[in-house]
Amino acid sequence: MRAVYLAAAMALVAAPSFAQPSAQFQAGQAAYAETCAVCHGANGRGGAAFATPIWGPGSNIAAKFPTGAQLLEYNQMLMPFDDPSRVSDELKLAITLYMMANHGALRPEASVSEAEIGPVAIR
Ligand code: HEC
Repeated sequence: MRAVYLAAAMALVAAPSFAQPSAQFQAGQAAYAETCAVCHGANGRGGAAFATPIWGPGSNIAAKFPTGAQLLEYNQMLMPFDDPSRVSDELKLAITLYMMANHGALRPEASVSEAEIGPVAIR
């Protein structure tokens, strides 16, 4: 019994300091590596098909996409450039979360629905 209480208490204490990227962030990271990195670079800093970074310093992400809604819609309709239909909407939401977290607009621990990511500002 005592061990159970101790384990429960430790879980409570440990949780905040061990914040892990969400499963959705990790799914987005994997899908980005698989489907986007070939043209945009492993770290989004530019690749074979598009030299400009797509997040972080030097990117146009904030200027072109003021909120998550615009970035998600762009990814849904136009990316991957060669065939936007080869990635599911669910994975595109995860990729959009991953991009926004890398840009600092969301935390990697976040999990979001389409409705939730829409109003998040990208600066
Ligand atoms: C076959 C190459 C290719 C792949 C794969 C690809 N992209 Fe792109 N991407 C491009 C090109 C080319 C552009 C520029 C399109 C334009 O300006 O009309 C672009 C533009 C973008 C932009 C806008 C950047 C800006 O500054 O205008 C975003 C965001 C983006 N891609 C995200 C993604 C994501 C997310 C994926 C994976 C799901 C992806 N791309 C996969 C080639 C690719």
